[in-house]
Amino acid sequence: MKALVYHGPGQKSWEEVPAAAIREPTDVVVRVDTTTICGTDLHILQGDVAAVTDGRILGHEAVGTVTEVGEAVKGYAAGDRVLVPAITRCGRCEYCDRGMPSHCQTVGGIGWIFGHLIDGTQAEFVRVPYADTSLYQIPAHVTNEQAIFLADSLPTGYEVGVLAGRVRPGDTVAVVGAGAVGLAAILTTGLWGAARVIAIDANKFRLDKALEFGATDVVEAGPGVVDQVRALTDGQGADVSIEAVGYPETLLTAAALVRPGGSIANVGVHGVPVELPMQDMWIQNVTLSMGLVDTVSIPTLLKMVASGRIPAEKMGTHSFTFDQMDEAYDVFKNAAENSALKVIITPA
Ligand SMILES: NC(=O)c1ccc[n+]([C@@H]2O[C@H](COP(=O)([O-])OP(=O)(O)OC[C@H]3O[C@@H](n4cnc5c(N)ncnc54)[C@H](O)[C@@H]3O)[C@@H](O)[C@H]2O)c1
Ligand SMILES: [Zn+2]
Ligand SMILES: [Zn+2]
Repeated sequence: MKALVYHGPGQKSWEEVPAAAIREPTDVVVRVDTTTICGTDLHILQGDVAAVTDGRILGHEAVGTVTEVGEAVKGYAAGDRVLVPAITRCGRCEYCDRGMPSHCQTVGGIGWIFGHLIDGTQAEFVRVPYADTSLYQIPAHVTNEQAIFLADSLPTGYEVGVLAGRVRPGDTVAVVGAGAVGLAAILTTGLWGAARVIAIDANKFRLDKALEFGATDVVEAGPGVVDQVRALTDGQGADVSIEAVGYPETLLTAAALVRPGGSIANVGVHGVPVELPMQDMWIQNVTLSMGLVDTVSIPTLLKMVASGRIPAEKMGTHSFTFDQMDEAYDVFKNAAENSALKVIITPA
């Protein structure tokens, strides 16, 4: 089969690899019908995620069709159309038991294994461990182009941004970074009654998208951001400030935008240390949260995608085939000049 293989920082290639196969009785093999690229894949290619080593197949989001089923798998059969989420869960370890499969202990001690610790989804086929407790059946009227964004972007913006930031009715929420994850936070912050949602990005196309996804105000990234957000919030700042980029300066911006008593929810994947101005922050009674998505909100979000309440299909702006993987990465990486958000990648 063919797959996108990581060969060290800045290096990847779509190449021939051994076919994905069942290794454990709890595995299935899925033919990948739709995959996409995450901001985290860009961090990996920058060398920010040391656990990803030469030879690893990238990708942690897929919609596909089950082709082979391990003998212990009860809930899936060949031909089933399934969502392969970014997080794998055994369903039995201490963390799965606590509803925190992000730290499932069974495969390498972390729930994010695809395109990280085991081969990923930017491939013609992928082996899925613990299929019964990890996969989701996709309702017939939900398209692959909608379901793919439930693998990671939507649950991440919702769980690590909106829920961790404890958005409450009437809140003002600032979202730094209007990529798919920031936009997912913007889309779902309304579910908790946010009164104002301020999107901050350097990319004008994504700021336009933010307004379409429910932002009430947009601010272009730059030196004046903190003053502009304060001006929009009676000089106070936001109740909840969500960081969805993953750089020191954007976390510092998010931290500077929050009002006393508010919450900073860091979603971004960081590759270097960040120096926070604790001498100013300690007295503000703010909460800082961070973490890896659990994807446990998928069933809830899937219902809202199915009913039309969450227009997931709006996230996909460009389509490519597997043999155009390099172009797909180029467009996603240079999102501003390409008016791109998420790319949809299919076999042909
Ligand atoms: N915590 C988790 O479980 C988890 C899961 C998935 C993704 N992530 C992380 O979330 C972040 C966002 O992911 P994504 O897929 O939306 O990425 P993305 O690359 O599509 O979006 C990032 C956005 O940040 C904007 N940006 C860049 N510099 C900026 C600046 N200085 N000020 C404001 N905006 C700026 C870009 O224009 C872009 O729109 C990444 O760091 C990704 O690794 C975390
Ligand atoms: Zn991701
Ligand atoms: Zn587990």
